[in-house]
Amino acid sequence: MVEGARLESEYTAKPYRGFESLPLRHFCLYQRRMELRATPSGPLAGIAAIPGDKSCSHRALILGALADGETRITGLLESDDVMATVRAVEAFGGRIEQTGEEWLVSGSEWRSPAGPIDCGNSGTTARLLMGAASGFKLTAAFTGDASLASRPMARVTAPLARMGARFDGGDRLPIRLHGGDLGGIDWLNEPPSAQIKSAILLAGLRSRGSVMVREPEPSRDHTEIMLREFGCEIETAGGSAVLGAWRQLRGCHIRIGADPSSAAFALTAAALVPGSSVEVQDVLVNPLRTGLFEALEEMGAAVGLSGERLQSGEIVAGLRVGPAPLRPIEIPAERISAMIDEIPLLAIAAACADGESVIHGLAELRHKESDRLGALVAGLIACGVTALVKGDRLHIFGRRKVRGRATIAAQGDHRIAMAFLVLGLAADEPVAVDSAEMIATSFPGFVETMRALGADIG
Ligand code: S3P
Repeated sequence: MVEGARLESEYTAKPYRGFESLPLRHFCLYQRRMELRATPSGPLAGIAAIPGDKSCSHRALILGALADGETRITGLLESDDVMATVRAVEAFGGRIEQTGEEWLVSGSEWRSPAGPIDCGNSGTTARLLMGAASGFKLTAAFTGDASLASRPMARVTAPLARMGARFDGGDRLPIRLHGGDLGGIDWLNEPPSAQIKSAILLAGLRSRGSVMVREPEPSRDHTEIMLREFGCEIETAGGSAVLGAWRQLRGCHIRIGADPSSAAFALTAAALVPGSSVEVQDVLVNPLRTGLFEALEEMGAAVGLSGERLQSGEIVAGLRVGPAPLRPIEIPAERISAMIDEIPLLAIAAACADGESVIHGLAELRHKESDRLGALVAGLIACGVTALVKGDRLHIFGRRKVRGRATIAAQGDHRIAMAFLVLGLAADEPVAVDSAEMIATSFPGFVETMRALGADIG
C-alpha cells in the first residue's frame, strides 16, 4: 500500500484518535444541522459589532509561535477556524494563553506533534501551517473536516517540496509532512493565492538561500506586513515578495482590526434594505480586501470611509454604508482577488440590481469551502433570480425586488449561508439556509450583530 493510502485508512478507521477535544461538528456524521431564516425587515441602523480579521488572526498566532519572546495579540477572532490554529500551534510546541481581551503567544523550536493536526474547516490553518512547519526537522500529519479534505493541497505542497520538504499523500488531506533542511525558491503565484504565498514565505524563514514569490495579480499582503512588524526583512516591490537576509522574528504587540469580510454582511444588507445606515468601526481597509465596497459604491450605494489610521502596519478606518437603487455591474478578472471571499455578497447585490451583471474570473470559487459558483447559481435560481455560469463567468439578471421564498442548501459553507440570509432581509419573502452552524467558523456573533441592527434573523 502506498504511504498516502495507509494514512487515509488510518484516519477513516479511527476518526477520534487524538481529536478528543474537538467539537462534535468536526465529524460530519454526528454534526447537528442548524437552519436559520431571514425575514424581510425594516431599515437596519447602528454600529455593527464585527470581530477581528480572520486572516490576520491566523498569522498573528503563527508568527508569534515562530518568534523569539512573547507576542501580545489584541482583537483576535475567537472563531472555530482560528481555534483550530490555536490548537495546532500548541501541538507544535508554542505556548498560548488567553488573559482577558488579550492572547499571549510564546515562540519555541517546533517539534513533531503527538497526533494529527486537525485543521477543521480552515484552509488557512492547513496551508499556512504546512509552510511554517516545513522549516523544522519534524514530522506532522494534517487532516480536516469533509469540506477541507476535498480542497486541493498540491498547490501548497508543490512549492514546499521544491524547497526540500517531503510529503506523504496526494492533492487532498490527510497529508503527512517531513520538514527541515530547506533551500530557496523563486515561485510564480498563479492564480494569485495569499495562502500559497504565505506558506512559502513562512517556510522561507528557516531556509537557506533566496526566497521570492512573484505575483501577476496581487493577493492580500497581511503576511508581508506582519513579518515586518516582527522585525523580518522583506522587500515588496514590482509584484514580488522577497525575504531579506534577516529572518529572525521578535515577539511584538499585534492589534487586529475588524474583519472586512465579516463587516461586508452587515454593510451589504445596509446597501439593499431601504432607509438603512450601518457603520463599522476600526475595520481593516487594506486595499487588497476592499473590492466589494468599491463595487457597491459603483453600483450606487452610499459608501463613506472615515478616520483612516495605521495599526500594526495595516490601515483601519470607519466604514458607513447606506442604500440606493443599485445598478448592475461588470467586474473584470483582475479585480477578483481583492473581493475573493465577498463574491457571494456581490452576487446577492447584483441580484437586487435591475439588469445584467457579469463577474469574470471566478474559477477559484469552485475550490473554496464549497463549490461557491454552483451553490450561488442554485441559490439565486431558488429565490427567483435568473443566473448562469459560462466558463469562469457568472451572469446574473437582477431585479429590484427579488422573490425569496426558498430554503438554500448552503453546502456547509459559512459565507454562502450568511450571504443568502442577507438576501432574505431585502427580498419580498423570507429566505432560510441550512448548515448555518458553519457560520461559527468565521463570524460567531453574526446573528446577534444583525439582530442588534434590526434584522429579523432566527
Ligand atoms: C486567505 C486567502 C484567500 C481567502 C481565504 C483566506 C488568507 O484564499 O479566500 O479565505 O488568509 O490568506 P486563497 O489564498 O486561496 O485565495
